Amino acid sequence: MTSTDIPENLNSPDPTVSTAATAVAASDASGGAASPEALDGPPDPAAPEPAPDGAPVMLALHQTALGGPEVLRLTELPRPVPGPGEILVAVHAAGLNPTDFKHRALSIFLPPPPLTLGWDVSGTVVETGFGVTLFRPGDEVFGMLPYPYGAGSHAEYVTGPARAFVAKPAGIDHVQAAALPLAALTAWQALVDTADLRAGQRVLIHAAAGGVGHLAVQIAKERGAHVTGTASAPKHDFLRRLGADACIDHRTEDFTATEERYDVVPERRSLRSVM
Ligand SMILES: NC(=O)c1ccc[n+]([C@@H]2O[C@H](COP(=O)([O-])OP(=O)(O)OC[C@H]3O[C@@H](n4cnc5c(N)ncnc54)[C@H](OP(=O)(O)O)[C@@H]3O)[C@@H](O)[C@H]2O)c1
Repeated sequence: MTSTDIPENLNSPDPTVSTAATAVAASDASGGAASPEALDGPPDPAAPEPAPDGAPVMLALHQTALGGPEVLRLTELPRPVPGPGEILVAVHAAGLNPTDFKHRALSIFLPPPPLTLGWDVSGTVVETGFGVTLFRPGDEVFGMLPYPYGAGSHAEYVTGPARAFVAKPAGIDHVQAAALPLAALTAWQALVDTADLRAGQRVLIHAAAGGVGHLAVQIAKERGAHVTGTASAPKHDFLRRLGADACIDHRTEDFTATEERYDVVPERRSLRSVM
């Protein structure tokens, strides 16, 4: 998500409807499956083998090389089969986070292509693997595939551990649900798992209008904290609508130059208390 992409649905009083990542529906506007011609390019010598006759197939946003968006090809692949403890999900929407475009271009955590990226997903359970009792076919679920090796939601179907999913609340649609997991879990991990943020504590959230930050603001308010967020001035109204108690314009103000003290300051790679 870029700094100019402010989700429009954040006026909702329900924090769970905030859209963090950019989520895209798996079908085209007419409701049909996307066509393989949509991203057709020259023949790819590294293209995967076709599925054996009769085996179920699916379309996936696949790549056989690292690079820019041009390496992505809508490709027919064998439909995955859920293993023990896994579910097969028909993807209705998948999230796009910075880590997707970084892994499209660079070998960071994943082995070299061929790859199908995508960790955030929302859809319908089609099949359950051995031992799965949490869900049954027809259930609407959303979740985050195990990071980093479980990627693959940028496809019509994906398998993942049943425990990586939860039931999709009826009050949010698949696009909203698919936008939440990675960014929201990042914010939750910092504020709740690591900092154990408590009611009445004062928290400073940097980049508070960003994909992770705007969710962190809502989580912190829900925990009863006093929230100060840094963002450029045009985004302060947005932050206040999310519940921020105070805003600092990082372009014109030095947050270290005030008398204000904080209990918790989540940072990009760590979390420290400055009090
Ligand atoms: N998105 C994820 O799922 C995810 C997961 C794990 C880690 N991360 C990491 O978390 C960080 C934020 O990611 P994001 O997805 O939230 O990014 P983002 O949506 O692109 O937001 C970045 C924000 O940074 C703000 N900003 C820029 N310069 C700033 C400064 N000097 N002081 C304070 N704010 C500043 C911008 O706000 P203004 O326009 O107001 O300046 C913008 O809203 C990144 O380091 C990312 O790698 C993200």
